[in-house]
Amino acid sequence: MAHLVGGLGTSHIPSIGVALDRGQDTGDEWKPFFDGYDFPKSWVAEQKPDIAVVIFNDHGNVMFLDRLPTFALGVAERYEPVDEGWGPRDIPDFEGAEDFSWFLADKMVERHFDPMIAREIEVDHGLQVPMELFFGRPIEAWPVRVVPIWVNTLQYPIPTPQRCWELGKVLREAIDTFPGDDRVVVMGTGGLSHQLQGARAGFINRDADREWLETIGSNPERWTSMSREDYVEVFGSEGAELIMWLVMRGCMNSKVSLKHKHYVVPTSMTGAGCVVLENC
Ligand code: DHB
Ligand code: FE
Repeated sequence: MAHLVGGLGTSHIPSIGVALDRGQDTGDEWKPFFDGYDFPKSWVAEQKPDIAVVIFNDHGNVMFLDRLPTFALGVAERYEPVDEGWGPRDIPDFEGAEDFSWFLADKMVERHFDPMIAREIEVDHGLQVPMELFFGRPIEAWPVRVVPIWVNTLQYPIPTPQRCWELGKVLREAIDTFPGDDRVVVMGTGGLSHQLQGARAGFINRDADREWLETIGSNPERWTSMSREDYVEVFGSEGAELIMWLVMRGCMNSKVSLKHKHYVVPTSMTGAGCVVLENC
């Protein structure tokens, strides 16, 4: 059966991709942020995953407010990076793990999740940026096949934190019963606190971000007991993207060890960082 090697959580800010494209990652502004990804990168290289399940949201790049699924699952052979307005990026397409995607689609429906099934779709910074943060920029091809899961965090009503946690359980069941010996890493993306619109534009909550990073491994109940409205209040309207880390955490054992955490604030207009979690 497939094997879950661990869980990763990270911010997915578009300007991280732009900084990488412009070679600014070693400059004064960005170095403190990128330095925190040295350990996760070497951890991932050691784990040698075959499949990366990436939980993220689209940001109006391939899905729009006119038709927006609460959950969508990619089952494509490959996914092209979408151009978000800075021009085409010099990164390869992402090869899909079609076999695991269809297996997961079946498992989700069996467990009453009913996602939109996407056979042909592009992926935005929500997937592009975390992939490069953890795998580096490949010369020809990414060293892993991907399974994208989109969660609506764009337009209300977004799914509840509890529902995201339960999706994690279904994902784990799929990993544990998928025939073969693929090594799977699960990546929850988005956040940390930020708000890009309205009266609280620019809002960042450093204390809540630090608490999140410290306790998402040891005390996830602290976060699954909150409402969607609590997320908006505590983390900002776009910081509510953090519910997607709960899919990753829900997928893991009840006891995990926090191998690494990293936080740099502000990064762009957000609190930003990552965690590396391993099952105990
Ligand atoms: C920004 C966009 C995001 O999707 C995000 O998660 C954080 C920041 C931004 O445009 O600054
Ligand atoms: Fe985002």
